[in-house]
Amino acid sequence: MANRSHHNAGHIGMNLLRKQRRAHHSLAGIDATPPASTTHHVLIRDCRDLLKALPDESVQLIVCDPPYNIQMAHWDRHGDYIDWASQWLTQAERVLAPTGSIAIFGGLQYQGEAGSGDLIAILSHLREHSAMRLANLIVWNYANGMSAQRFFANRHEEIAWFAKSRAYYFDLDAVREPYDARTKRTYLKDKRLRPESVEKGRNPTNVWRIPRLNANSRERVGHPTQKPLAVIRRLVRALSYPGSTVLDFFAGSGVTARVAIEERRHSIVVDIDPQLHAYLDAQVANMLDECGDDRPAFEVRRDVLPDVPSGR
Ligand SMILES: C[S@@+](CC[C@H](N)C(=O)[O-])C[C@H]1O[C@@H](n2cnc3c(N)ncnc32)[C@H](O)[C@@H]1O
Repeated sequence: MANRSHHNAGHIGMNLLRKQRRAHHSLAGIDATPPASTTHHVLIRDCRDLLKALPDESVQLIVCDPPYNIQMAHWDRHGDYIDWASQWLTQAERVLAPTGSIAIFGGLQYQGEAGSGDLIAILSHLREHSAMRLANLIVWNYANGMSAQRFFANRHEEIAWFAKSRAYYFDLDAVREPYDARTKRTYLKDKRLRPESVEKGRNPTNVWRIPRLNANSRERVGHPTQKPLAVIRRLVRALSYPGSTVLDFFAGSGVTARVAIEERRHSIVVDIDPQLHAYLDAQVANMLDECGDDRPAFEVRRDVLPDVPSGR
């Protein structure tokens, strides 16, 4: 019997390709050889100005963690939220490669204030105005958070992954989770399971149990809403490939650039706040502290517009 997941657009597409005996475009025809060195552009400007300067189809992955107008900081205030958001959403879709994706962070709980937005507002806008397809709504579940008395304490945020087209790139093997030794032994004895699949590990599913950064986390560089490396790394590994370009136009702490350097992707990171430069310096210092002799080769270019070819 078909379960509801069989009606998911991603599953329908995969099943069609399987019936036609064609490989998923994810892994076909893409040169994922890690480059000898990667380039990381860091710019201070309004995201809409930067996006207008980028060519069509020039970016593989956009990590997008926008402000939601909840007055968390001076940058978090807009008159008509969805009118503002629609300007960068339209440009984001244009600059994505056909194999590309955008991962939009957000919550469903920021409603009520005049002019505020939340992920529901963005999802319903995209449903009406975009040809991109919702591939997954990822639930980022964490154990640490605020307490509550009048409702269940919130322990998740969402990440909406939209694919530009049906030919989106997705490398599941790059993000599989190893089975623990006992489960692996049991599964390897199970004749119904293929040993090579067991060796690869499990699909991490769309519920990601990754702790939020606490106040004393060694990852912290000072930005108030810095996301954990582990969350960004899973997106970068699964939805982009070595040598492709990752864009983050609400870059905040610069965490996406650090992950891109480590994962041998090029990056473009942009924020309206000039503090991005200092945050990125701290990210790079932390990275160099931790990577020992295995230092990736990279170049950081500040305040220079990237010259990314269309279709990269
Ligand atoms: C939620 S934070 C991003 C945090 C980031 N993902 C991290 O993990 O560090 C949103 C960021 O958007 C930036 N921002 C707000 N409005 C902007 C705009 N119009 N253009 C570019 N950046 C903007 C803010 O300065 C802030 O750093």
